[in-house]
Amino acid sequence: MAVLVTGGAGYIGSHTSIELLEAGHEVIIVDNLCNSDKIVLERIKELSGKSPKFYEIDITDKEKMEVVFKENKINSIIHFAALKAVGESVAMPVEYYSNNLISTLVLFELMKKYNVKNFVFSSSATVYGDPEKLPILEDSSLSVTNPYGRTKLMIEDMLRDIYYADNSLNIAILRYFNPIGAHKSGIIGEEPNGIPNNIMPYITKVAVGQLPHLNVFGDDYNTVDGTGVRDYIHVLDLAHGHVKALEKLSENPGIVTYNLGTGRGYSVLELVKAFSKASGKEIPYKITDRRPGDIASCYSDPTKAEKELGWKAKYGIDEMCEDSWRWQSQNPNGYKK
Ligand SMILES: NC(=O)c1ccc[n+]([C@@H]2O[C@H](COP(=O)([O-])OP(=O)(O)OC[C@H]3O[C@@H](n4cnc5c(N)ncnc54)[C@H](O)[C@@H]3O)[C@@H](O)[C@H]2O)c1
Repeated sequence: MAVLVTGGAGYIGSHTSIELLEAGHEVIIVDNLCNSDKIVLERIKELSGKSPKFYEIDITDKEKMEVVFKENKINSIIHFAALKAVGESVAMPVEYYSNNLISTLVLFELMKKYNVKNFVFSSSATVYGDPEKLPILEDSSLSVTNPYGRTKLMIEDMLRDIYYADNSLNIAILRYFNPIGAHKSGIIGEEPNGIPNNIMPYITKVAVGQLPHLNVFGDDYNTVDGTGVRDYIHVLDLAHGHVKALEKLSENPGIVTYNLGTGRGYSVLELVKAFSKASGKEIPYKITDRRPGDIASCYSDPTKAEKELGWKAKYGIDEMCEDSWRWQSQNPNGYKK
């Protein structure tokens, strides 16, 4: 099956591309490399033994994207490409709306024109806002507090409208909780440009001495130790979830939505402790003020994915930390030499 993977050079996209190639799919990656490096493509080949087809294109460029649809018989799309930093989205809302929404609309238009029926969308637990009940089920109420989250919820809403108008489509909305970890080989992993926004790359950069300490945003939440609790999920489990979602779409389910998480929450300090155990490195941290918009706790109920996709996260927090550390310690400067 030919799968168009947008953002396939990025963190989750690269791990998923390997999983897809290993499962026997043909992979076509489109990425403009705004938050990734071309070397990833060589590493995907090294790990899977197969070369994905690659187009260095900005997905908002409809003319160039049309060439991809003309040149390939695309059966399914997995749409990872997006700008994803919450804080940056507050400072640069126009860039976020423009990139994330226009790229998605271009895909919708081309899907229609080229009769592509299967679409998997990278959504996020951020669409649950401050959850009323924990663990979070897929039918919980949805609300967002920042432009990044709003692009995710808007795209989810668009998908529901598009499906309503055309029931022949098959759409999987996957709401990721907090992806961390890296490929077991240690040769691909998370490498954001600039100062990391996500906690694990921040911790690993402290561990290799590139950042002085971790800032812990608030220790007065109503949680086990006062720090925020999140549902960390290994990127390999997430990658596997996409292959399972594609299998599900081949059964013509219509539009489906799944939480991809472990169902278990860990506080920031518990994560730091697990990372220190895995790496043998002390992580100095400073407690600072709460960050506006942050919530106390967020963890999934992943039972629906288990029942309907036959998918369950298999890696625990220790392996997530070991694998993040292997990647960072073997590549202190990420993909740069
Ligand atoms: N990492 C997380 O914590 C997390 C959590 C929930 C949801 N998500 C979502 O998962 C998806 C993948 O996230 P990731 O962590 O792998 O991010 P990433 O930044 O590593 O990967 C995204 C990729 O998309 C590319 N891209 C962005 N805009 C593009 C455009 N207009 N044209 C072509 N390529 C473009 C980037 O160059 C990058 O390689 C995103 O949609 C993100 O919002 C991520």
